[in-house]
Order: sequence, then C-alpha cells, then structure tokens
Amino acid sequence: MDSKKLEGRVAIVSGSGANIGEACARALAAAGAKVVLADINIDGATKVAKDICDNGGDAFAYRLDLVDEESIRGLAAAVVERYGRIDILHNNAADTRIAQMAADGPIAELTAEVWDRAYTVNTRGTMLMIKHCVPVMVKGGGGSVINTSSGTSILGDVFNPAYSSSKAAINSLTRNVAAQFGKQNVRCNAILPGMIVTPLAREMLPEATLEMLERHTLLPRLGRPDDIAGAVVFLASDDASFVTGQLFSVDGGITTHQPFVGEVLAQMG
Ligand SMILES: NC(=O)c1ccc[n+]([C@@H]2O[C@H](COP(=O)([O-])OP(=O)(O)OC[C@H]3O[C@@H](n4cnc5c(N)ncnc54)[C@H](O)[C@@H]3O)[C@@H](O)[C@H]2O)c1
Repeated sequence: MDSKKLEGRVAIVSGSGANIGEACARALAAAGAKVVLADINIDGATKVAKDICDNGGDAFAYRLDLVDEESIRGLAAAVVERYGRIDILHNNAADTRIAQMAADGPIAELTAEVWDRAYTVNTRGTMLMIKHCVPVMVKGGGGSVINTSSGTSILGDVFNPAYSSSKAAINSLTRNVAAQFGKQNVRCNAILPGMIVTPLAREMLPEATLEMLERHTLLPRLGRPDDIAGAVVFLASDDASFVTGQLFSVDGGITTHQPFVGEVLAQMG
C-alpha cells in the first residue's frame, strides 16, 4: 500500500476500538491519514490511538455515543479544534451487542425497543454523523463518506430484521448523501461486508459453522477485518475520486449466488 496516499487527510472512524473499525483506523493511519477513533468503547479506542501514535502516526480517541446528538456535535467540534478539517468519515459503528442481536429475532415477537435501538444507533447515528461532519468537509473542499452497511441489507432472512433493515436504510441514506453533496465534491459510498471473522466472531461461532459459511463463499476463505480496511482506504483515496453513491459488497461473493444450488446439483447426481 502507498503509505503516502492519504497524507494530510483527517479521518474519523466510528466504532474503531476493536475489530473491523480498528483495522480500518490502522489502515487509514498507515496510508498517512490523521485518525480520530470515536467509540463508546473509549478504552479500546484509546489503546488503538496510542498504538497508532507509538508507531509514528497521529491519532486521538473520543468517547462517542451515537444515541446522543450532543456527543456527535462534540466530536465534530473536537476534530476541528485539533486538526482544522475532516476529509474522511467512516461510519463503521453499529449496535451489534449479543443481547441486541439475540433479541432481534422473529418479527411476531420483536419488541419496539429492539427495533428502535437498531435504528437509533445504526441509522439515525449515521445520519447525525453526516449532518455534523459533512459541512466541515464541504468547507475544506470536499471529502469521502464511507458507511458500513451489511450484506444482510440486500437480503431477507429468518433473523435480525431490525439490524438488516436499519442497514438497508443506510444504503438509501448513502445515495441521498451522494446526491445532496456531490456538487460540493463530497463522495458517499457504502460497504456491504459479508461474514468477516473478527476475534469475537471466532470466539462465538463453532468451527463447524465457520466451515459451512466458508463452503458457501465463492472465494476459498472467509473475510478478515483487513478486507474491509482495504476497501475503506480505496474509497477514501483519490483512486475512487469518480466513485459515489455505490453499494460496494466486500463479501467473497456470498451474496452473488444462491448458496443451495451446488447442493441441489449434488443431490441430482
Ligand atoms: N463482522 C461481520 O461479519 C460484519 C458483517 C456485516 C457488517 N458488519 C458491520 O461492520 C461494522 C463493524 O462490525 P464488527 O464486527 O467489527 O463489530 P463490533 O461490535 O466490534 O463493532 C461495532 C463498534 O461500534 C461501537 N458502538 C456500538 N454502539 C455504539 C454507540 N452507541 N456509539 C458509538 N459506538 C458504538 C462498538 O463499541 C464497537 O466498537 C458494523 O457496522 C457491523 O454491522 C460486520
């Protein structure tokens, strides 16, 4: 990777205290960006920011709660105070806590609280980050917004309807932002990750489940946080300067085919 590709740019990554967001923040820093690690998990964000600084980068951590608009307004103000600009906004955070995802089950049993929580953190939080950060980008001459959606946003399934539809709303928001700010040189794209094996996923999912998921992935392996980080650096950089309003799947092809066809053919002999 060209280590100077993002030299002089200022990036915010929400939810960067661990896992995919951490990998994205580290990759943006490695490409030369100054990085703001914004997370409700301030301990994780502080640790990653320190590590980036210890390795010659420039970063700081901010305790962000996406539920609270004042916290988001404060983040934009803190970044302007420290660095004077915002060039890259990666909306990576989502409420993926086990309790939230486990309660996000059959619609007939779904509570309004679980539904509202998914939309408040994932969708409204992303919108408010854009509301407070993009005007700063515009003042600086433009920038790149990258929203982390999910492969589930374009599928229907038997679990997580609140999560997946909150991500589908992010897809629509992405295109609205691309339309509203395009003439001011702000690009906005969404990344739709497939199964990305974070340390947490490895801890939670049985080996047999991971093997099954890998079997249904077109490429010979499951995703890694660095796969998302590579796409984020691309979309943040001038290499993507004519790319906007796109929904960009990074999923090893898992959403591009019907996973059962191979098994049907095998059954037919
Ligand atoms: N891991 C996967 O397979 C996968 C697949 C599709 C999409 N995604 C998406 O990728 C992103 C990162 O996922 P991950 O697997 O690294 O999960 P993760 O739970 O480690 O990351 C989510 C981050 O968001 C932060 N967060 C949660 N609530 C917040 C709030 N109210 N305010 C501020 N920060 C908050 C968490 O502290 C955490 O750091 C998420 O948007 C997720 O939906 C992940």
